[in-house]
Amino acid sequence: MEIFANYYQYFLRGTRTTILISLITVFCGFLLGCVIALLRLSKNRILNGFAKLYITVLRGTPLLVQLYIVYYQLDFIPYPKVNIWGVALERALPCVIALSLNSASYVAEVIRSGIQAVDIGQSEAARSIGMTNGQTMLHIVMPQAIKNILPAIGNEFMVMIKETSVIQYLGISDLMYNNGIVVTATYNPLPCYYISAVIYLILNIVVGKGVDTFERRLKRSER
Ligand code: ARG
Repeated sequence: MEIFANYYQYFLRGTRTTILISLITVFCGFLLGCVIALLRLSKNRILNGFAKLYITVLRGTPLLVQLYIVYYQLDFIPYPKVNIWGVALERALPCVIALSLNSASYVAEVIRSGIQAVDIGQSEAARSIGMTNGQTMLHIVMPQAIKNILPAIGNEFMVMIKETSVIQYLGISDLMYNNGIVVTATYNPLPCYYISAVIYLILNIVVGKGVDTFERRLKRSER
């Protein structure tokens, strides 16, 4: 408790970065995941093959390795050397890119299975009353698929909150990075890790509750 009282600013500032990076990542990952899922479902062999390859590679290699590859691969880009809330932007960008690319591969599979879980009769019925392929997807299949995938997307959000901890290795002052600073300053690691664990836990409990509420709303609108 004493450690938290003395160093709470480190923990809170780190938490703010963690929340910010996870929100951006989940958002970008979801959008990209939708695109990959649609490619994956397309009948075009090349698009389909690309999506398959993407998912295989990004799910099959460690996030930490991807983070370093994106960072060094993109180091020719002259990122602006600005700090926002004490976070160096030129290193936050590769982090967001790597995390989003990784998340998209998982999200794509979630979305694909959500779409495929919608009974084929639904699209057949829509097509038979004269809807186009696109209209069927947008008005009939997607609204039902969203309900299927929501719990898994909530799960992905929680996973990403925890996975952002890898960005400490690029020196982004997220919760784990600042945790490290406090460990070094106090020579007392155990309480620091307990504090961080509790913070991550609180974040994920809040997200879990949020997803539950959202799900209940959707269920209610169904009736
Ligand atoms: N720790 C995993 C890895 O190193 C990352 C898993 C990411 N999972 C996810 N659902 N986005 O590859």
